[in-house]
Amino acid sequence: MYICDDIKYLGIYDKDLKVFEGQYEVKSGISYNSYLILDKFNALLDTADERAGEEWLINLKNNLKDKKLDYIIVSHLEPDHSSYLYKAAMLYKDAKIVMTQKAKDMLSLFFSDFDLTRIMTVKENDTLNLGNHTLTFITAPMVHWPEVMMCYESTTKTLFSADAFGRFGDTNEDTNFIDEGIRYYANIVGKYGGPVQTVLKKASNLEIERICPLHGPILTKDLNKYIELYNNLSLYNPIDNSTLICYASMHGKTKEAALYLKEECDKAGINSKLIDLVNTDLSYAVGYAFKSKNLVILSPTYDGDIFSYTKDFLARLKAKSYKNRNVALVENGAWAPISNKLIKTYFEDFKDINIISTITQKVSLTESLKEELKNLVTILK
Ligand code: FEO
Repeated sequence: MYICDDIKYLGIYDKDLKVFEGQYEVKSGISYNSYLILDKFNALLDTADERAGEEWLINLKNNLKDKKLDYIIVSHLEPDHSSYLYKAAMLYKDAKIVMTQKAKDMLSLFFSDFDLTRIMTVKENDTLNLGNHTLTFITAPMVHWPEVMMCYESTTKTLFSADAFGRFGDTNEDTNFIDEGIRYYANIVGKYGGPVQTVLKKASNLEIERICPLHGPILTKDLNKYIELYNNLSLYNPIDNSTLICYASMHGKTKEAALYLKEECDKAGINSKLIDLVNTDLSYAVGYAFKSKNLVILSPTYDGDIFSYTKDFLARLKAKSYKNRNVALVENGAWAPISNKLIKTYFEDFKDINIISTITQKVSLTESLKEELKNLVTILK
C-alpha cells in the first residue's frame, strides 16, 4: 500500500483471524498496521501481532534494505502491535526505543529482559527530528490503554492515531467504514469517551491530511467526516435516527413479535436494524446500539430473571458506558413476566436512558400486542 514517498506501510492484513481480542467476531479479519519513515534518521512506528510477525519482519527488512534503523516508536504496548518489539529491538541494536514513561513502566510485564537503557521516554508535545520529517508526540491515555500516544508528522501532515480511527476488516479506504468502524469503536474504545474527547481537542489544532491508525484503512478522504464521527461517538450521541431492535427468543414467540415490529418499522419508513441476541456476536448489537437513536429490547423472563443473553447484552452496554438513548422494552412471559421491571432497574445505573415504552407479551403475537407494537412504531418515528 502506497502512503507517500517517505512513509512506508509495513502492516499485515490478517484475513484468517476469526475472533479479535479473544471476543469480537471479525468476519473479514483485521489488519495490524505498522509504518516506517525513511529520512536522515529512520523511524519504525510499532511492530505487529505474533500471528503476523514473521511476514511483518520481511516487510521491514525489504523496506529498510541496507539502511540503519534509528528509532522504534511504540504507540501502544498491546500485543497486537508490540509482539515483535523485542525481536525488532534485538535485530536493530542501535535503535533507540521511544515511548511514554507509562509504557516504560509497563514494559517488563510483556518483556522481562528488555534493555531499559535503550529507552527514550517522551512526553506531551516533545518532538523528534528525523531530518525532513518531525514527529510531535501526543499522549492519548486510555485510548485505549494508559500508555498510548499518537504521533503527528508535520511535513506530510500525517497523524499516526494508534487504535483510534481503526476499523475491523481490510485496509481498503473505500470499503464502507461506518458500521464496522463504529462496532470497532464501541467495543474497543467505547468506554473511554472522555479520553477520546481530550485527544480530539488536542488534534483539533493540527492540519491533518491523512490518518494512519493501527488497524484498518489509512484515511485520506473527507477526514472531517471521521473526526465528526469520533466526536459524536465519544460524546455518546446517536450517529443517526435509526432504531435497533434486539431480541432473544426461546421458542420463537418473542422472535415473531420482533419480526412484526421490524416489518412495521419498515412500513413506517423507520431506518431499523434487527439483531438476534442469541445467535449473533454481541459486539454487533453493541456497535449498532452506539449508532442508533432508539433501542428496543424484546426478551423473555426466565427463572424470574432477565433472560441470560439479554443480561449479557445489558452488561456489555454498561461496560461501554452506553448512555443518552431512548429505550423501549417488550417482555414475554406466560405467568409472571418481570423482565421489563428488572431491565428498567438495571438501566437506572446508566446515564440519560429514557424508557419510552414498556409492553408485555403474554406468550403469543396477539392482535392486541400488534396494536401495542404499532403504537410503539409511532413513538419511534
Ligand atoms: Fe489494537 Fe489496543 O490494540
